[in-house]
Amino acid sequence: MPTVFVVANQKGGIGKSTTATNLAGIIGRNHKTLLIDADPQGNSTSTYNAQIEDVATLYDVIIDSDKLPISEAIQHTENGDIVASDPLLVKAEKMLDGELEGFYRLKDALDNLEGYEYIVIDTAPSLNIILYNCLIAADKVIIPVTADSYAMQGIQQLYDTIMSVKRRQNKDLSIAGLLLVRYSGRSNLERETRDNIENIAQKMDTKLFKTVIRECVKTKEAQEAKKLLIDYAPKCNTCLDYLDFVKELKIK
Ligand SMILES: Nc1ncnc2c1ncn2[C@@H]1O[C@H](COP(=O)(O)OP(=O)(O)O)[C@@H](O)[C@H]1O
Ligand SMILES: [Mg+2]
Repeated sequence: MPTVFVVANQKGGIGKSTTATNLAGIIGRNHKTLLIDADPQGNSTSTYNAQIEDVATLYDVIIDSDKLPISEAIQHTENGDIVASDPLLVKAEKMLDGELEGFYRLKDALDNLEGYEYIVIDTAPSLNIILYNCLIAADKVIIPVTADSYAMQGIQQLYDTIMSVKRRQNKDLSIAGLLLVRYSGRSNLERETRDNIENIAQKMDTKLFKTVIRECVKTKEAQEAKKLLIDYAPKCNTCLDYLDFVKELKIK
């Protein structure tokens, strides 16, 4: 069975997609890895240069009544294997409404997938039924946070959601940790916030990862060039930090 990581935080623009693509890209060098884009905005899909027209996407796997096997929605790109998202995913709530197994669609799909050691799921900034699908299918949640004064806004809600899924649908789910991303290290406020985040992580019975992901302009450039950072700028701070992060996850 693969290890399934979900990258989640219901705030937008935090660094979820950047974390998911770097994680999948780096792990993917040594292990058979699948990235799943569960955000209708499709930033990971775009970075991986995957298609959304005339191809099967996550939508077909979990929303469509035909329920295509997920293996048929995998695109093999230069950056790695991905199940692309589709803007139609925004309709998920309505389409799965009243479906008794609506929360288990992704889990069922992954239970029937073979050949992958790691799966990384990028999520949308919301606590909707798609996120539940991801949490129910997952082993570990990685929560990226930034060190600004609003950083921890909404984290309690995310925590409550994760704990509720753990109690009811997926007892093996755990929070791998909070990951401080887009860190400039320039301000005192950032350093103070970091201590604060550490305290909150402890209260959530998890940890703040030791690795801190620093900012680098190459990150955005790589995304625009539709390349993995590890290929585009392997020596930039952000890339070096994500490499350390994968080591901290004890993945070789
Ligand atoms: N380490 C980093 N260095 C520089 N820019 C970053 C870094 N991480 C994320 N960004 C930028 O911040 C923005 C938001 O990141 P993104 O991963 O798309 O967040 P989310 O998926 O949470 O909405 C993007 O424009 C991305 O390029
Ligand atoms: Mg995103």
